[in-house]
Amino acid sequence: MIRTASVVLLLLAAQIADSQNFNNTGKEFVVVFPENIAYYHPTDPINEIWVTALHSDTRITIEKLNINSQPLRVTETTNFTTGLELKKPDIPENSTSLNVFSISDEAIKVTSTKDVVVQAISLRKNSVQYAPVIPSHKLGTKYFIPPVPGLEESPDDGAVVVNVTERGPFRLIIVNPGEDQANVTIKGGEELSGAIEPGKVAQILLNNNGQYQYVEADRPVAVFFSHPCAFQDNCTCGLLHAMVPAAKDDKEEFLIPPILAEQASILLSDEKSRTSTDSTAPVDSEGTVILHKPSFLLTLMSKKDFGSCFVLTPLRYLIKSFHIVVHKDDKNGIYIGGDPAGYTGWEELKGTDYVSTHVKVTFQKEFMWHNSSVMAVYLVGEKNGRMYGNPAPVVSSIPDYRGCVVTPEVIEILDEEKRWKESIKSCETKSLKLISLSDNRLQKHLCSKISAEGVKEAWIGTRRSSLTGDWYWLDKQQFGDSNWASGKPGDKDQCAVMSLKPNDDCSWKDKNCCDAIRPFCYKPPEFLPM
Ligand SMILES: *[C@@H]1O[C@H](CO)[C@@H](O)[C@H](O)[C@H]1NC(C)=O
Ligand SMILES: *[C@@H]1O[C@H](CO)[C@@H](O)[C@H](O)[C@H]1NC(C)=O
Ligand SMILES: *[C@@H]1O[C@H](CO)[C@@H](O)[C@H](O)[C@H]1NC(C)=O
Ligand SMILES: *[C@@H]1O[C@H](CO)[C@@H](O)[C@H](O)[C@H]1NC(C)=O
Ligand SMILES: *[C@@H]1O[C@H](CO)[C@@H](O)[C@H](O)[C@H]1NC(C)=O
Ligand SMILES: *[C@@H]1O[C@H](CO)[C@@H](O)[C@H](O)[C@H]1NC(C)=O
Ligand SMILES: *[C@@H]1O[C@H](CO)[C@@H](O)[C@H](O)[C@H]1NC(C)=O
Repeated sequence: MIRTASVVLLLLAAQIADSQNFNNTGKEFVVVFPENIAYYHPTDPINEIWVTALHSDTRITIEKLNINSQPLRVTETTNFTTGLELKKPDIPENSTSLNVFSISDEAIKVTSTKDVVVQAISLRKNSVQYAPVIPSHKLGTKYFIPPVPGLEESPDDGAVVVNVTERGPFRLIIVNPGEDQANVTIKGGEELSGAIEPGKVAQILLNNNGQYQYVEADRPVAVFFSHPCAFQDNCTCGLLHAMVPAAKDDKEEFLIPPILAEQASILLSDEKSRTSTDSTAPVDSEGTVILHKPSFLLTLMSKKDFGSCFVLTPLRYLIKSFHIVVHKDDKNGIYIGGDPAGYTGWEELKGTDYVSTHVKVTFQKEFMWHNSSVMAVYLVGEKNGRMYGNPAPVVSSIPDYRGCVVTPEVIEILDEEKRWKESIKSCETKSLKLISLSDNRLQKHLCSKISAEGVKEAWIGTRRSSLTGDWYWLDKQQFGDSNWASGKPGDKDQCAVMSLKPNDDCSWKDKNCCDAIRPFCYKPPEFLPM
């Protein structure tokens, strides 16, 4: 009976971990800079890779740029500049079709010794775009392709004109970050297959009759949707660039911040629905949802990919405002650095329990986090009247009242039933501690996380002194906030257990130290210093 129960417990823990763990952190990334033309401005592009360290003593290696960085401090951000940029796709002169994989070599691999966040910025004259880079281990093998929007101010309305680079059509950029060749097939009305060698990039031109609908690869790849030079006012043009998140297993809900949606259309890439809509109602999709205005593409985050801690730093000089979407009950839990943000101006998202606000950037602080919930944060900038933006990179999606989590906490109720004293050792052999619960907020926090069906109770790290009769915690914190089942402990036993039964509020009971009971082992999370 008890064996079966422990399986249930592990499964529950695994499910929770899975759904809560979206983040943009990793140790390996592949960055590409899309072709950025900036019409009639023969200035050099400025392409920057921004890396934010989340742990001390983090070293960055970028082979192609010959970079072996000095160790970065925790929260330190650094940038590397490169001229390496994708070129116009190479379509053979005698090719009868434009449906060609144009392969090139401009992918840049960034590796680090510890988890970091990476962002890429393309800047040329007034043409700016940036995006968080998805770590290689988070990439997928199936991607839906956004429908190609008509470009109002382009005379060709997005039509395929290959020999005029300034008006090149939208293109799909596919990167193979792996160690093995990736075989990629683009499917839909037509089919196109090609192989991408490790570390290489493929560009595929997209016309606007929706001939391609999704990408399937036999290995994880990264996919971007880009236009090098979408016509804008005054005979200039700007880069349109959006990361394409991997296809979901199921439909997920996307919420649309009303301010950003003004005069925008929504590009939906689902197999079944490829329509545009200008409604701000939430959208369900297993694919990509991209908000589009004539000079602006913004990839939206699904509700499942909301985060609890975001990096704001690097774009200090590029970002004008950020837009937050959060549940209406959670709008007070937002922090900037160490201080509650106290944002106002919340606007309801029709038909949902969510609200959104937008805030001018002042950037005294570098991280935004939520103490009890998850949210979406979009960074939006503007140069000469042209908008650009993307979701802020997610550091973690595990909310914690203590701060921004960079290494998740470990909660384990071990299988083996032992006496209290031996339980301390059982935890230690797993590099954990028998839990000390002096803080009322920690009690609540943990209680919301454990749901150990079938397990009645577990040892906690408190014991009564046989001399004084006082209770004390193993971590030597004061015995303050208590949670005894009947308000106070009995007067018989020297050790204590926490109830794991539903509706018991994780309350405690004194217990004979020699009983055999499972230990509640714990390791606190690591936080970013604020
Ligand atoms: C990028 O880093 C260089 C130093 O390597 C610095 O001079 C430059 O100002 C940084 N760029 C920005 C936009 O901060
Ligand atoms: C296309 O042209 C290339 C040289 O530019 C040549 O090698 C190739 O055989 C030609 N292909 C066809 C199908 O004519
Ligand atoms: C561009 O290509 C089209 C056919 O695709 C051709 O008719 C036109 O002459 C070409 N223009 C230039 C400037 O090469
Ligand atoms: C990938 O494609 C190559 C030819 O392009 C083929 O030889 C190889 O078997 C394919 N690999 C897989 C796993 O399908
Ligand atoms: C376009 O150019 C005109 C004249 O040079 C200028 O007054 C106007 O502000 C420009 N518009 C934008 C959006 O840059
Ligand atoms: C989160 O922060 C808000 C505002 O500071 C506070 O009122 C609330 O109690 C906090 N929640 C938790 C779980 O600490
Ligand atoms: C980020 O996600 C990975 C799984 O992809 C997970 O192992 C890691 O713990 C997460 N980091 C944080 C801080 O939640």
